[in-house]
Amino acid sequence: MNIVVLGAGAIGSLFGGLLSQKNNVVLVGRTPHITAIKTSGLTITGKTLTTVHVTAEDSIDNVHIQPDVLIITVKSYDTEEAIQMAKSLITKKTIVISLQNGLDNIEKIKKTVDIKNILGGVTTHGAVLVKPGLIRHTGLGQTILGELTDENTTRVAELVSLFNEAGIETIKTTNFLRELWIKTIINSSINPLTALFFCKNGYLLENPLLMNVMNQICKESTVVAISEKITVTYEEMAEKTKEVVRMTAENYSSMLQSVQRETKTEIDSINGAILQMGGKEKRFLFVPIYLYKL
Ligand code: PAF
Repeated sequence: MNIVVLGAGAIGSLFGGLLSQKNNVVLVGRTPHITAIKTSGLTITGKTLTTVHVTAEDSIDNVHIQPDVLIITVKSYDTEEAIQMAKSLITKKTIVISLQNGLDNIEKIKKTVDIKNILGGVTTHGAVLVKPGLIRHTGLGQTILGELTDENTTRVAELVSLFNEAGIETIKTTNFLRELWIKTIINSSINPLTALFFCKNGYLLENPLLMNVMNQICKESTVVAISEKITVTYEEMAEKTKEVVRMTAENYSSMLQSVQRETKTEIDSINGAILQMGGKEKRFLFVPIYLYKL
């Protein structure tokens, strides 16, 4: 299959690198990383050990394949611009999958891409860009794919097989919105705290104070999800959040990585989006407001 990964940061490179072993993959990303991949290949260490020689481009204009699948892994605030730039590559047959953090990416993609071409995706893998050409897979996670309409389709089943064949453990869902909320509740509970306290994910379970704040945020985000008719419980979400912390204990969350690089964070698409929904009808006062606008 022809696969283009738009946003070859840590997660994009991990997925693109693994998929490139059996597919024709092009990674699109920023210069130093792309130049290193062109020169010496992409090396993945940590939970996955491999070096792959995958096609990499620093501009979408240099991509000359028609992708069967376009995977979006740019930061949520870059989604609209990235998809606009990729517009000419998208045909009626292209499946567009967002594997980004945040609640608002599908809305942004929908402005440019026909909704029929979009599939939902979430992942809880942890990865860090160590230096150009080298990423560390710091935490094993799960990947979930599904139709936005919740139908059980063969294209989802085929992509689930494709990901699994590449060594990316993936399952399908017939309730994508619920999975997206679960992922976002987890992100809202882990990412801002690790970014504020400059700690690895695992420290959130070692420090009782931080664990308590993490649980509080998780509770507040879950209350908003329930108000949006998502069938989740606080107990379930607290357990799932702890599980992701345990699985990605050695990871520096994507938000902490943004703070370390002094770049914008995805707080608006994660806690900001939840806050907006929670505040919509002034139903909730205690959404993680003090972590918003980090
Ligand atoms: O944003 C991240 O860093 C990841 O989504 C996760 C799962 C929280 C692991 O660090």
